Amino acid sequence: MQHTVLSGIQPTGKLHLGRYFGAIQNWVELQSKYDCIYGIVNYHAMTMPYQIKNLIPATWDLTFDLIACGLKPENIFIQSLIPEHTELFWIFNTMTGYGELKKMTQFKDKSLLVSEKGKDAFISSGLYTYPVLQAADILIYRAHYVPVGKDQEQHLELTRNVAQRFNHQVGKAYFHLPDPLFTEIPKVMSTADPTRKMSASLGAKHHIDLFATPDQIIRQIKSAVTDAGENQGGSMSPGVENLFGLLKAAGQEAEYEDLMEQYKRGDLRYGPLKEVVANALVQMTEPIRERKAEILGDKKRVKDQIKASSSDIRKRAQNTIAEVKELVGLLNVKF
Ligand code: TRP
Repeated sequence: MQHTVLSGIQPTGKLHLGRYFGAIQNWVELQSKYDCIYGIVNYHAMTMPYQIKNLIPATWDLTFDLIACGLKPENIFIQSLIPEHTELFWIFNTMTGYGELKKMTQFKDKSLLVSEKGKDAFISSGLYTYPVLQAADILIYRAHYVPVGKDQEQHLELTRNVAQRFNHQVGKAYFHLPDPLFTEIPKVMSTADPTRKMSASLGAKHHIDLFATPDQIIRQIKSAVTDAGENQGGSMSPGVENLFGLLKAAGQEAEYEDLMEQYKRGDLRYGPLKEVVANALVQMTEPIRERKAEILGDKKRVKDQIKASSSDIRKRAQNTIAEVKELVGLLNVKF
């Protein structure tokens, strides 16, 4: 049997090249090797201040975007359509140490972000227990692997601890401990400040929207920061390195090698480099833009597909929850 891979993504903000190259592209490839399940985690999106009226549109938009990128609809579920996640979350809450959660750096970072907003900042306990829900997302499908970035390593470690504690408590190795799946992932930096990771929250100049028009992509690459000061030769500036990184990420290995040679000889001008990078990105995103347009022309069908896939995936979650309730001594009746 194929091993199960699980990952989740929050319906917050648009997909930009950083998120695409950093996660989604890899998720697409994993589908040919593993039994993959990808969740649009809208319960998680409620842990930071959000606009109620935007959440459903954002959930569908992200779903459409992911399918346009190449995720198979049958591998995608929407978290709120599978209430067993929150049911397992409760059970796991009773098996997670208060002190364990206090150590989570994401909670510290995010609560700081909220409290900087001013005196009526509200930090919910949902933000605090967020990693427990994530553990439920992963373990409810008995996942073997979780493709994660560095920022999620701590949450995966917590998931392993919860699984281990559960197994110990019920006296049975029910959950196997999921492993992180690290793959070589290009690091995409901001186009305005290439010392920082590309992120939507930094502002419009910093990230390139995956669904930007070719014109927008070209303009943004043209204005990307290259050498902050004068080029000293020797070491490459972060901005130029980022352009090279984007070129490689876009799959243009040969161009990359070629231009790198030129750079090393000292006769690479940034204008032509930017042109090549912009063209590579436009070309790479072309089929994604086309698929997105098709999907938008047939939204109802795609929504129905995702409701059906969520219902299929839910059956797996229901199996687990029934077994878990029995194992922990909770009365359960099939109505
Ligand atoms: N916390 C993850 C993030 O912000 C999202 C997430 C929720 C997730 N549940 C998950 C990731 C389960 C992997 C597995 O990126």
